[in-house]
Amino acid sequence: NIDACIFDLDGVICDTAKYHYLAWKRLSNELGFDFSIEDNERLKGVSRMDSLNILLEIGEKSLDEETKLELAAKKNSWYVEYISVMKQDEILPGVKDFILNLKENNIKIALGSASKNSMRILKALDIVDLFDCIVDGNRITKAKPSPEVFLKGAEELEVSPEKCVVFEDAAAGVEGAKNANMFAIGVGDASILKKADKIISGFENLTLEILKF
Ligand code: BG6
Ligand code: MG
Repeated sequence: NIDACIFDLDGVICDTAKYHYLAWKRLSNELGFDFSIEDNERLKGVSRMDSLNILLEIGEKSLDEETKLELAAKKNSWYVEYISVMKQDEILPGVKDFILNLKENNIKIALGSASKNSMRILKALDIVDLFDCIVDGNRITKAKPSPEVFLKGAEELEVSPEKCVVFEDAAAGVEGAKNANMFAIGVGDASILKKADKIISGFENLTLEILKF
């Protein structure tokens, strides 16, 4: 029996990955190199500073900490600008109905995201109230694949980890869920999300059958 479902935000509830990509690309261009959509896979699920470090590695740049903090802040200001115009229609197909269905069946719902912008996004999409508990980048010290974000969610929901299912689009996130001793459902490509217990391509027409392991 599953008592709780924990949802990643970027790439699971909405396609904010594309806005992260646009902002990182803009930064890389300013630094004089290009950043491809393939390279962007490596940034999914990873914290803001870790993402910057990967970007700089790709561009073969080594910079001091202070400059890095400035660049991360700059990228974030662009990102915030992009997401400020998000509307409810950017919720990925089926996910809201699926969450409502879970709630009707007394399954608790948590957010488990690395993002420090999660509240802003949930408000823009008008879905803050869907969640019984919100754990995001402002409340954790260790990035995915650490299980911290998911364990915190389970603890707050007062549910044991073995009774939780995590929905994740990033390899680091799937790994984090497994490290938390939870079930992991990968949203996307099985060849990338190798450690997931199950894979779905999206939430359209998804039933609670998916929670049977
Ligand atoms: C994750 C994204 O959800 O959040 C990453 O997949 C992103 O790409 C990370 O870097 C941190 O987000 P933010 O909004 O705090 O910069
Ligand atoms: Mg994600």
